[in-house]
Amino acid sequence: MLRTLFLALGKNKNAARFMRRYGTKMGADRFVAGTELQEAVAAVKRLNVAGLEATLDHLGEFVRDERDAKHAAGMCLKTLETIHAEGLRANLSLKLTSLGLDIDPRLCERYMRTILSRARELQLFVRIDMEDYGHCQPAIDLYRKLKRDFPNVGIVLQAYLRRTERDVRELGREGANLRLVKGAYRESPQVAFPDKRDVDASFAKLIRRQLKQGYAAIATHDEAIIGDTLEWLSQNGISRERYEFQMLFGIREDLQRKLAKDGHRVRVYVPYGKDWFGYFMRRLAERPANAWFLLKHIRRK
Ligand code: FDA
Repeated sequence: MLRTLFLALGKNKNAARFMRRYGTKMGADRFVAGTELQEAVAAVKRLNVAGLEATLDHLGEFVRDERDAKHAAGMCLKTLETIHAEGLRANLSLKLTSLGLDIDPRLCERYMRTILSRARELQLFVRIDMEDYGHCQPAIDLYRKLKRDFPNVGIVLQAYLRRTERDVRELGREGANLRLVKGAYRESPQVAFPDKRDVDASFAKLIRRQLKQGYAAIATHDEAIIGDTLEWLSQNGISRERYEFQMLFGIREDLQRKLAKDGHRVRVYVPYGKDWFGYFMRRLAERPANAWFLLKHIRRK
């Protein structure tokens, strides 16, 4: 029930606006590097020193106003310039709805082309995050179009979706660099596996399939799945250049560091910006225990 509540709240624009204006960060700073780019840069520098790579995300999603989409595109470019200028070991993640996918897909495509051109000049990689089911096909369609011109673009696929087995097979065949995740949105059982065991089984299967056919960013904090994957990697002699592990800022830092210490590439997803509410609600939804953490934080204020 809590999961449903947090996920519904996370998509509520009025709640997000209210929190942006009046809310304290309610403990969001556990999962978000800061509201300003410089705070995120400091976080990435700390990660780099510890042997971890990063992917920076300027927070924002489900944008309906052209000015907001323009601002988001500007922040993506600024993030790329900063990664380059500061010599960070990092790339960029972004959400297509922050760049106006829901306003006009052509506008979003124009922004993407500008961002990817600059990223290519700077030799940086850009990953398209996957959002809710309604945006899955439009995201894949745009990714395919962009991939023809930009080798430095990748996408995310979600193991909880019934369609993903086919998507991994097809996109993998096309040479896609895929980040595989379990999936973080509220979806109907018609399109997504409702049972966590089915999601986990699908995730494990998709990781192996992608590892056989191309580059895999294995994005999870699930120790059992990571353990099984490590065993499978060594049994199948997959080289370390063919995959990376990814985890979210503020979650399982012990595991992030252990994997890096053992010689695996580990990338931490570092979100920053003022539009932190939806992202924060998804993190609360993932783990009911986080709700207690939130309540304790509010009581302390
Ligand atoms: P699972 O939920 O089973 O958790 C396994 C363990 O991890 C838990 O027992 C706990 O210890 C820890 N954990 C997980 N979530 C936690 C939390 N919020 N707080 C504290 N501990 C937690 N999703 C999506 O739909 N589109 C996307 O583009 C992305 N992108 C993305 C990038 C990266 C780098 C990561 C790691 C994840 C995403 N996700 C995502 C989110 C993903 O779909 C999923 O919701 C979360 O990773 C949580 O699932 P786990 O795989 O960690 O497993």
